[in-house]
Amino acid sequence: EKGGYDHFMLKEIYEQPRSIRDCLRGRIYPQQGNVQLGGIKEYADKLRNLDRIIIVACGTSWHAGLVGEYLIEEYARISVEVEYASEFRYRNPIITEKDLVIAISQSGETADTMAAIELAKEKGATIFGVCNVVGASIPRVTHAGVYTHAGPEIGVASTKAFTSQVTVLTLMAFYMAQQRGAITQSKLIEYLTELDAIPTLIEKALKTNDKIKEIAAKFKDSRNCLFLGRGSSFPVALEGALKLKEISYIHAEGYPAAEMKHGPIALIDAEMPVVFIATKHSSYEKVISNIQEVKARGGRVIAIVSEGDTTVKDMADYVIEIPQTGEAFVPLVATIPLQLLSYHIAVMRGCNVDQPRNLAKSVTVE
Ligand code: M6R
Repeated sequence: EKGGYDHFMLKEIYEQPRSIRDCLRGRIYPQQGNVQLGGIKEYADKLRNLDRIIIVACGTSWHAGLVGEYLIEEYARISVEVEYASEFRYRNPIITEKDLVIAISQSGETADTMAAIELAKEKGATIFGVCNVVGASIPRVTHAGVYTHAGPEIGVASTKAFTSQVTVLTLMAFYMAQQRGAITQSKLIEYLTELDAIPTLIEKALKTNDKIKEIAAKFKDSRNCLFLGRGSSFPVALEGALKLKEISYIHAEGYPAAEMKHGPIALIDAEMPVVFIATKHSSYEKVISNIQEVKARGGRVIAIVSEGDTTVKDMADYVIEIPQTGEAFVPLVATIPLQLLSYHIAVMRGCNVDQPRNLAKSVTVE
C-alpha cells in the first residue's frame, strides 16, 4: 500500500502533483478566467457583502490558514483573522451574523476546531469548512464548504493535506476576488493559468530530492533549527519547523525573518542550521540582508531559492533551487523541499516517520 515507497509520508509527498490536480479539477477555467466552487456558490451574495473572515484551525491546518490570510487579503481585499481554535473557543470572541468563519481540518474531527465552529454558529456566523475526509463531523456541521480531495493521508505528519488546503484557500481567494470585483478578468486569467501549472512545477521541485538527502546528512545531528521566511513564506517556515520537530524530534522554530533580530539571533552559531525561504519575490532583498546577518554571526544557512539564483548561492552554505512561480503560489512549491528535508533527517535518525511518538492523526480530545 506504500506504492513502492519506504514510508507513507514519502508516498504522500510524491502524490502532491496528483492531489493538487484533483483539488483543481472542475474548479478553475483559466482561459475564461473563471473559478467555480460549487460547495459555496449559494453564498456568493454573502461573500460580496462581507467585512471580515475568521479562520479557525489547529496545527498544520492553522499554518494553511495563515497562507489563506495573505491570499484573501491580497486578492479579495477582505480583512482576515487567523485563530488557534483552542484559543478562540475560550476567549469570548466577538462574532456577529455578518462574519464568515472558515474552519480548516484535514480529519474533520479535531475537537477544538469543532467547538470553535459550534460557538461561532451559536453567534449567528456563517461557517465554511475546508476538510479532507468526506462526511467527517466538521463538514457535517458547517453551512457549506470545499473539500480538499487530497485522498487519505496516513502519515501522521501532514504533507499533501497541507498543500491541498493551501490550494483550496487560493481558490477561495480568487473566487471571492471575482465575486467582489476586486480583480480584473485579465489578471484572473493570468493567475489561474499559473495555478494550473503548479502541479508540474511541484514535479520539478520533487527532483531536488537527491540534493536534499545530501544536505540532510550534514544536519541530521543538529539539536536546533531555525526556519525563516517573509510574507506568505512565513507560514511556510512555521510549517517547515513543525514538520522537522514532529518527525525528527529536533527542536525547530519558524519565525518571520525580520523577527530574528528581536530574539532568535542570540541562538545563532555554527551548530544551528538556519533555513531560509529566499525565492525571488517582493521581499527578496530583505531576506538577503537577513541571510547576511546570519552569516556574519557564523551561522550555517540552507536556502530555498528560485531556479538560477546566483546571489544567494554565493552567501548560503547550501541552496535548493525550486522553479520560479508567481508570488501567490510560492507556498505550494517552497513547502516541498522542506517536507523532504524533514523526512530524510528523520529517517537518518532512525525515527518512526509515519507514526511519531506521542502524536495522533486526529486529535479528538481537547
Ligand atoms: O485534522 P486537522 O487538520 O484538524 O488536524 C490539525 C492538527 O492536529 C494537525 O495538523 C497536526 O498538527 C499534524 N500532526 C501536523 O503534521
